[in-house]
Amino acid sequence: MSIQLGDTAPDFTADSTAGSISLHDYLGDGWGILFSHPKDYTPVCTTELGTVAKLKGDFEKRNCKVIGLSVDSVEDHNGWAADIEETQGVALNFPLLADPDRKIAEMYGMIHPKALATLTVRSVFVIGPDKTVKLMITYPAATGRNFDEILRVLDSLQLTANHSVATPANWKDGDDVIIVPSVSDEDAKAKFPKGFKALKPYLRVTPQPNR
Ligand code: BEZ
Repeated sequence: MSIQLGDTAPDFTADSTAGSISLHDYLGDGWGILFSHPKDYTPVCTTELGTVAKLKGDFEKRNCKVIGLSVDSVEDHNGWAADIEETQGVALNFPLLADPDRKIAEMYGMIHPKALATLTVRSVFVIGPDKTVKLMITYPAATGRNFDEILRVLDSLQLTANHSVATPANWKDGDDVIIVPSVSDEDAKAKFPKGFKALKPYLRVTPQPNR
C-alpha cells in the first residue's frame, strides 16, 4: 500500500555515505526530508545534489535534516561525490543512503515502473517531528527539482505546525497568511496580536506571525 499524508514515515536502517542510519533515531525531534534520485553518475542528479549541499545551512536553520537515496551502493556514492564537488563547487555534506536491494525504494513507493523500470524517480518526503509524512512530491527523471520551492513548503508546513496558519497560493516568506478555519474569531484575537482581516468569515488574513 502506498504512503499517504499523515502516515508514520516507515522506519529503516541502511548504510549511507555517513555510516549506518536508522531514520527515526537520526531525525530525533527535528524535521526531515528524504528524497530519491534515479542514479549516481547522471547529470541532473549531479546538479540536484550540489544544490542541496549548498542549501544545507538553510535546512539546518529550519531544524531539518536532509537525506538522499538511490539504488546504488555507498562505494558508488563515494566515487560520485568527487564529481559533485568538482562540477558543482561544493562537497556532499549530507548522507546519501545506499539502497541496492531497493528495500527502502519499495517501502516508500519511489519506483514507478511505467516511468523508469528499475530506478527511483525524484520523490520527496517531508517528515515532521512526530515522524508523520507532511508532504510528498514526485518529479520525473528528466526534471531537476526546485529546492527553493522545497524550502518554501517547509516554511509553510512549519507555520501551520507552530502557529495554526495556512499559506495562500504563491505565498512567499513575509507575505500575509491565512488563519486556519478551526481557530474561532475569538481565539484568533488572542492568538494573532497583530490583528486579522476577515475578507469572508472563512477567509481571514493576518501578518506572518513569526516575523
Ligand atoms: C539524470 O540525472 O540526468 C537522469 C537520471 C536518470 C534518467 C534521466 C536523467
